[in-house]
Amino acid sequence: MTKIGWATDIHLSVCDDKTRQRFYQEICDARLDQLWLGGDIGEADNIEALLIELLEAVEIPTFFVLGNHDFYFGSITNVRALADRICKQHQSAVYLSHARVQEVTPQVGLVGHDGWSDGRIGNYETSMVMMHDYRHIQELAEYGKLERWEMMKEQGDVAARHLYDVLPEAMQRFKEVFLVTHVPPQREACWYDGQIADDEWAPHFTCKAVGDAILDIASQYGDTHLTVLCGHTHSPGTCHPSPNVTIHTDGAEYENPRLARIINR
Ligand SMILES: [Fe+2]
Ligand SMILES: [Fe+2]
Repeated sequence: MTKIGWATDIHLSVCDDKTRQRFYQEICDARLDQLWLGGDIGEADNIEALLIELLEAVEIPTFFVLGNHDFYFGSITNVRALADRICKQHQSAVYLSHARVQEVTPQVGLVGHDGWSDGRIGNYETSMVMMHDYRHIQELAEYGKLERWEMMKEQGDVAARHLYDVLPEAMQRFKEVFLVTHVPPQREACWYDGQIADDEWAPHFTCKAVGDAILDIASQYGDTHLTVLCGHTHSPGTCHPSPNVTIHTDGAEYENPRLARIINR
């Protein structure tokens, strides 16, 4: 049996040393075979130190994607390159956005991508929401609202292209596939306080490009079940958008990182 721990939005940069150590101890005590992380680990200027600290503390294979916060005070391109460098130096780490299909067990596969809120669900044009992303991430801060939207859509498309590259192979090879991403890929997966996001918030908290790719690919492999694990809203909920797809959006709390789910396979 393979025991997997899943955590998302751990935001280690807002935790003091004691809180981070408590989280690493929780992972060690759970005697996991693998750790899966859903992004928002830190920010651009501290993620390297925090991720390495975690990897060295837990000493188990760790598969991760990045969230919007991980790019704050830096750029998407540079932080993704940094993630690649960390994985080169630490054999236990795999950055799923740049990785092929991972075999968890002979029956279970894993793929993933950061995803990106692509402004395609809800009403981006009328929404008054101004995310910190739009000020603190280099690629987005350079633009006004409408140009930024094009950039967001492009990032969503990058995520979808990666999934078209890896997910069909995973669905074909395995009976069960897990997909780890940061941003909820559908409005129905975008929970906040037990409610689904409205037109004002959904553009900033969903990745339609990834959602469409998931449903399209999953519909071609009806015998394989796809479980999507995501976060970003810090609010939990589950939806079943098609017979062989389940999406778990898991909750999180600032300054209290914890395992959201244990998966035994
Ligand atoms: Fe978060
Ligand atoms: Fe996030």
